[in-house]
Amino acid sequence: MAGDPPKTPILAGVAGHPVSHSLSPIIHTIWAKRVGIEGHYIPIDVPANYDDFVRAMDALRAVGFAGVNVTIPHKEHALRYAGEASETAKAAGAANMLTFSDDSAKAENSDITGFAEAVQEKTAEPGTSALVLGAGGAARGVVLALKDLGLTDIRITNRTLERAKELGAAFDLAVIDWEKRLETLENIDVLVNTTSLGMTGQPPLELDLSGLDPSALVADIVYAPLKTALLKDAEAKGHATVDGLAMLMHQAVPGFRMWFGGEAIVDDDLRSELVKELKRRGRA
Ligand code: ATR
Repeated sequence: MAGDPPKTPILAGVAGHPVSHSLSPIIHTIWAKRVGIEGHYIPIDVPANYDDFVRAMDALRAVGFAGVNVTIPHKEHALRYAGEASETAKAAGAANMLTFSDDSAKAENSDITGFAEAVQEKTAEPGTSALVLGAGGAARGVVLALKDLGLTDIRITNRTLERAKELGAAFDLAVIDWEKRLETLENIDVLVNTTSLGMTGQPPLELDLSGLDPSALVADIVYAPLKTALLKDAEAKGHATVDGLAMLMHQAVPGFRMWFGGEAIVDDDLRSELVKELKRRGRA
């Protein structure tokens, strides 16, 4: 008697350049094991141009990938490639998720929901005012997440004032001179660093937090090192903090649910596995 044909394992992955540093394969593999789903989540190095991105995505779709996460430098390419996009991805001008169907792909942005969830995990009521340091793609996503969380007084500051002005005009934000960022800490409920300052190999972010109310939450999107000087300082002063790993774990949830069809829980066990891996790689 012929049995059912063997089920093809579910395929998904992360496309970026470089991509070998990504922790996403570890996150998805842990979740797949937890719920007993047979699947593979693979890092895919795609050269940093749109033509190669299209070729790679067409090929993944053709061989039956359910979807991919997309990371630097392809987040704008992902939005351009998709036939359909969520409102959040459109507003961000970038996507970190592509879900494939036979003849199309849908783009979504779970970086934004991931950041919002990481904040909410620490404080159910994040307040009304925020200061965002930086004005790149990451800052754009953070601003959208803060708006989703109901913050109404969002201020932005950036070394290059023009970029802060652009983002400020696009999202109706107050723009603060980079030199005046310290004076702005008073009455801030959420402080977010989206610049590359503090990242391994980059100059430190020198920011004296003494003007910040102790109830304020401090977030840093960097996860190498895991505890930036900013987060260490904030913790020492008793602030609630959100690190890059929290965001990374939360942004992975929608993709796992969508492609592998199982429950994805962000918890301390997952975090400690990832910290172990970062330590193994000499990055924590
Ligand atoms: P992403 O898309 O990840 O946000 P990005 O667009 O390269 O990356 O943005 C990096 C951010 O870090 C920018 O806000 C950048 O400031 P500029 O717009 O002035 O370049 C900020 N940044 C990088 N190096 C910096 C430094 N030495 N001092 C202050 N800000 C810095």
